[in-house]
Amino acid sequence: MTTPTVSDDTTTGGSGPAAPVLSFDKVTVGHFGVPAVRELSIDVHPGEILALLGPNGAGKTTTLLSAVGALPVMSGTITAMGTPIDSRVERNARRGVTLVPDNRGLFHRLSVTDNLRLARRKGGTPIDVVYEYFPKLQTLRGRRCGNLSGGEQQMLALAKALLTKPSVLLIDELSMGLAPVLVQDLLPRLRAIADEQNMAVVLVEQHIDLALGIADSAVVLHHGRVALAGSARELRAGRDRVEAAYFGRSGGADDPE
Ligand SMILES: Nc1ncnc2c1ncn2[C@@H]1O[C@H](COP(=O)(O)OP(=O)(O)OP(=O)(O)O)[C@@H](O)[C@H]1O
Ligand SMILES: [Mg+2]
Repeated sequence: MTTPTVSDDTTTGGSGPAAPVLSFDKVTVGHFGVPAVRELSIDVHPGEILALLGPNGAGKTTTLLSAVGALPVMSGTITAMGTPIDSRVERNARRGVTLVPDNRGLFHRLSVTDNLRLARRKGGTPIDVVYEYFPKLQTLRGRRCGNLSGGEQQMLALAKALLTKPSVLLIDELSMGLAPVLVQDLLPRLRAIADEQNMAVVLVEQHIDLALGIADSAVVLHHGRVALAGSARELRAGRDRVEAAYFGRSGGADDPE
């Protein structure tokens, strides 16, 4: 399989390419002994956004869960900041590997502020700074989370994750069920925050064009294998190849079973 091409701007101030913050080396992982992702190799660098794409059941969530240590790998290695990820999920989180799950992980009976307070961490990003990223949330700070719109909940989930000052942020379909216009608003902000905080992001997103619009690199999974990988620019220019990869018609080295 091909390791995705890394963008030109993932360097640490001119001293050559930065080491990856998250690295998968030939990782096979699955559920109850059945592989769902096979031989996956990806590198994500500081400040880089990697779009992880693919149809339903392709293995995107499985990949993210393994990156935070919630699913043990069957073979291969996952490293974050050069250290192997193991099953100690809390420890991995403290090291800066943060997951925004597909159910958004919010407490619906609590207010916006209380949701944020619960996610605060020593050495993390202050709540005021997060409110600067999402001023709308500040105006809603006393509102019960359950009474927020889908787009507002999406913002809150992202804000909550940012409080932990992640080195690598894994986002699983934050926009599930939302109109593209809301995603269009949020993704450029995510891009700006990744740039400002030099934060690596793995973005699972169903709105392919919007994801490719802000990403540096992309991987399309199909049946747990890499069907297509490259820079986001390449994939934007070759949308027909992206579609073929979704349907397992990429004809690459990793033919779907
Ligand atoms: N808890 C589980 N137990 C058994 N099999 C599972 C479990 N979770 C996922 N799988 C299987 O693993 C494969 C990959 O699922 P995964 O959830 O990673 O896909 P996905 O790309 O996130 O799909 P979607 O776009 O629908 O969210 C699928 O075949 C799925 O049925
Ligand atoms: Mg999923």
